[in-house]
Amino acid sequence: MPTIQAIPRAPGSVPLLGHAVPLARDPLALVSSLQNHGRLVRMRMGTKDVVVVCDPELIRKVLLDDRVFDKGGPLFERGREALGNGLITCPHHDHRRLRRLSQPAFHPSRMAGYAAVMTDLADTMTRTWREGQVLDVVDEMMALTVEMTVRTLFTDSLPRATAARITDDFLVLMTGFFRRMIVPPLLNRIPSRGNREYSLAIERLRKTVGDIVAARRADGRDHGDLLSALCGATGPDGAPGRTGAELIDEALTFLLAGTETTAATLSWAMHLLSQHPEVEGEVYREVESARRGSPLDFSHLAQLETTGDVIKETLRLYPAVWMLTRVTAAEAELDGFLLPKGTIVAFSPYAVHRRSDLHERADVFNPHRWRGSSTVRDSYIPFSAGARKCMGDRFALTQATLALGAIVSRWKLSPVTDRPLRPSVKASLTPRRLRLRVTARDEPPLHRVSAEGDVAERDAA
Ligand code: HEM
Repeated sequence: MPTIQAIPRAPGSVPLLGHAVPLARDPLALVSSLQNHGRLVRMRMGTKDVVVVCDPELIRKVLLDDRVFDKGGPLFERGREALGNGLITCPHHDHRRLRRLSQPAFHPSRMAGYAAVMTDLADTMTRTWREGQVLDVVDEMMALTVEMTVRTLFTDSLPRATAARITDDFLVLMTGFFRRMIVPPLLNRIPSRGNREYSLAIERLRKTVGDIVAARRADGRDHGDLLSALCGATGPDGAPGRTGAELIDEALTFLLAGTETTAATLSWAMHLLSQHPEVEGEVYREVESARRGSPLDFSHLAQLETTGDVIKETLRLYPAVWMLTRVTAAEAELDGFLLPKGTIVAFSPYAVHRRSDLHERADVFNPHRWRGSSTVRDSYIPFSAGARKCMGDRFALTQATLALGAIVSRWKLSPVTDRPLRPSVKASLTPRRLRLRVTARDEPPLHRVSAEGDVAERDAA
């Protein structure tokens, strides 16, 4: 059987750095071009060869065999530095136990309670915006989803300063994540300012979350939030299912998994609506007809079909998790090639979603494509698939649909420039410097904005 060496190598690799330069410069272009070289293509990340799987059927094979294609590779190595052994990063042998322990936190009966927190926060945020204000969209959405995750994870037991500290440390962590993933490991050990700040942020984050977990375990009551569900889960013998350290790992995992991904998705969705006012109008009419003057809540979700399709289509064009890796836990055969134990295997949901042989007019935003249509099998994987599929997919879709509905119900979104928007590819795929102007829908504005963009209070008269 041909070995890994027989797999074609992608052009553009240089000694020592491998593909780090094209990966840092335009990773989406690089991963999208790989399918032209074969179903499997070799790429060099840091000092290691990575086998990129370009064919959706082979990706499925990898995802369904999570014992052999285990979590691993640069993404998860960096993830473990930050999150310890949580559900996202843990190897196969810990996974079934940890997944079962987290299941109650995502029971459908808990979703309405989480949604109440989500809509309340989305409503509060959209009320603070002013007529004509130009939003820094990613910052706004990040603040919203961090607060949504912190409040659904820890209810309201968190002092504002603590929540702010978690957010700040978290942002340092997210910024360092992708850089550390693609450069040779040696560079990550140099005591540079960036590396020191990254390590400090992890240390502080673990300490802050550790204090919260310890207080919650001592208290023992069910607060109806994610953390109570995690703390309350027991093993088959009825004893607490997780150690204190595992609870910290898991709380951090949910914080990391649920914030930047959903913030990026909401930001892209707002950008797409600002570019497609006809779809924005449809979403607005749908939301208004569902809520009929009452605040948007979980009971309206089933009626928000177009809004949900906008989120689905956004996740197709801009899947927040644009690249994933695995590592072979044993010698494995893939597409007729023999991969030795320890081989890093990667695939890109972004590249699969943009293939014109799998999606009609793949680069065009068309939320209506999801109405009653079935996609080609395995061609839509924003939440991955198999045993390691996203556990928060329903949570994320609920959060994004309700938040987008709340935004559009109150504000119209317009671009402030016609320069094309570029993605910023970090751990998540995020729009770079997205700014949008908001204009009130129908309620008379309480404030007006001067030509310079300053906010002025409206005269009381
Ligand atoms: C739009 C938002 C989101 C996207 C695009 C997303 C995407 C993903 C993807 C692709 C994976 C699989 C990773 C892999 O196969 O290696 C994953 C795993 C996971 N996600 Fe999400 N996610 C989102 C939101 C959330 C939220 C809100 C939560 C929790 C509150 C969450 C919790 C998790 C967990 C716990 C896992 C690990 C599952 C396991 O290995 O058993 N995610 N997510």
